[in-house]
Amino acid sequence: MATTEPNLSGYDDANSVERIMEIAQANTDVDEIIHVVEDNADAIFTWNYDKGERVKLDKLYEKAKTSQWNATTDLDWSTEVDPYEVLDLQAELQLNPEFEADPTSPIYNWGDKEWREFSYQSTKWRLSQFMHGEQGALLCTAKIVETVPWIDAKYYAATQTIDEARHVEVFARYIDEKLEGEYPINPHLRLLLDDIINDSDWDMTYLGMQIMVEGLALAAFGFMHDFTAEPLLKKLLRYVMSDEARHVAFGVLSLQEVYQDMTLAEIQYRQEFAFEAALRMRDRFLQQEVWEHMGVDTREMTKRLLEAPEEAKVFQRMLFTKIVPNCRKLGLLDAGEGWLREKFTEIGVIEFEHMPDTGAEFLDYDIDEGAGEG
Ligand SMILES: [Fe+2]
Ligand SMILES: [Fe+2]
Repeated sequence: MATTEPNLSGYDDANSVERIMEIAQANTDVDEIIHVVEDNADAIFTWNYDKGERVKLDKLYEKAKTSQWNATTDLDWSTEVDPYEVLDLQAELQLNPEFEADPTSPIYNWGDKEWREFSYQSTKWRLSQFMHGEQGALLCTAKIVETVPWIDAKYYAATQTIDEARHVEVFARYIDEKLEGEYPINPHLRLLLDDIINDSDWDMTYLGMQIMVEGLALAAFGFMHDFTAEPLLKKLLRYVMSDEARHVAFGVLSLQEVYQDMTLAEIQYRQEFAFEAALRMRDRFLQQEVWEHMGVDTREMTKRLLEAPEEAKVFQRMLFTKIVPNCRKLGLLDAGEGWLREKFTEIGVIEFEHMPDTGAEFLDYDIDEGAGEG
């Protein structure tokens, strides 16, 4: 049994600025070094050691063992990086005509100086959130080693745990050495990670982490990889993506089996959790901390970003290109009279449902397919 029900009060209106701001302003203790979350799950031994009973998971495990890279030696850390040039994020916001032409916009008067500072801060903020999310993945995967009852999944999750350690390591080093320090964890992201760790059902860790958080990360890393010309970050992201694609596949393959035997009520709980996670991730990308740093009215900016026409929210929607097809493959879109389909339609991301799911796509991301090309 799950110990915490998703708190969906206020979610009737997914675009409620009040709800988003309330969470955004929740006190983050910036001096906090240790953050304790209660983990309510049982640790499970299995005495069935038959390797390969789950053929696809076994294949993934074998693949993972030969795909290990070393952040210390495989990346050229002597690369000179201009932190203001890593990503030009003016180009991203300008995809949204709302921000170019409206004289009442809080950023209407921004010139080169402000845009450069914004690009730097936003780059630093994004990579910081990825780093915190990677630590979430590290904890979640260690938890899956303990809680999943299948030996093939325990083996695979153990390889993912070392992958995630490497990911935390590379982002932390890049932020420290090249971007001069980090942003604290975003309150929306922290709430989501807390909820995932908190839950007592082992499959919920997979849904929260492998499907939602990592599905989003895979899409976001891909976007950033294509968008940046900075060679160190580009290569770093390419390496991380080759691992992440396996991680998402691990989620899809494991959950397909578990969901087959669930009751409608259990599936509905998972649909709600998936939607709550989707909203928290979308809301974190509104990057309230960066607007605040830039001296922009955060509430006004949040409102404008949410109210922008769907076709203008290119980056926001692109984050869901992996999540939606994977939810579809798992049967989460249409169960319970299509509740999740309706919700994904409301937030403008249902159009991605027929994009490739990540059950087998990890082979396309293989490191041998050009990770070193930079
Ligand atoms: Fe990761
Ligand atoms: Fe991962």
